[in-house]
Amino acid sequence: MTTDAQQGTWTQEADGSLTVVCPTPEALAPLAEALAGVLAPGDLVLLQGDLGAGKTTLTQHLARALGVGDDQYVASPSFALVHEYRGRLPMVHMDLYRLADEDDVEAAGVLEYLEQPSVTVVEWPDRLGSLTPDDRLEICLEHASVEARRIILIPKGANWRRKIDRIAEQLAQTTMQQSNNQPGPR
Ligand SMILES: Nc1ncnc2c1ncn2[C@@H]1O[C@H](COP(=O)(O)OP(=O)(O)OP(=O)(O)O)[C@@H](O)[C@H]1O
Ligand SMILES: [Mg+2]
Repeated sequence: MTTDAQQGTWTQEADGSLTVVCPTPEALAPLAEALAGVLAPGDLVLLQGDLGAGKTTLTQHLARALGVGDDQYVASPSFALVHEYRGRLPMVHMDLYRLADEDDVEAAGVLEYLEQPSVTVVEWPDRLGSLTPDDRLEICLEHASVEARRIILIPKGANWRRKIDRIAEQLAQTTMQQSNNQPGPR
């Protein structure tokens, strides 16, 4: 199914994956809202994409959608590795860029965060190597143009497939609400 909306265009494939093209950073908000709506304690979201792809920007929108207050600033945690936030659900934001591989990840002691009943968002998750948990949502962010980003949600496990279906339903509703809010003919 495909639809056009102010937040961009989204397409769901038969394998359950969902592709959203966001023309601006602000257009990430409806996707972040829809994602926040399906997240539960213990959920793991891996954000893949090059430098500047928009991983931290999406995390900021997700934190806001989870009710993290502006007083808890969501910066790129590249220097701290891990930041914890308190919203409607506890959220852990990890940036593994500075780690080389899974041995580094183990030595840094960040794996214990994955056991916590928090929503965990990970930038540069390739560093986890064979330590990558099976049950996870993978989100790939790519440049579609200078400003636009193609964001692909890939379910890993039946649980995430159902959740992505709910995200697609939510995006469809947002689209309908937005078109209902358009000024009609005079
Ligand atoms: N449609 C868009 N979606 C997301 N970000 C966008 C978009 N258009 C422009 N940008 C800009 O691209 C930059 C993305 O930076 P961000 O720090 O989120 O990337 P990152 O993937 O976390 O990079 P890094 O790997 O360095 O941590 C921001 O300056 C953001 O404003
Ligand atoms: Mg980042």
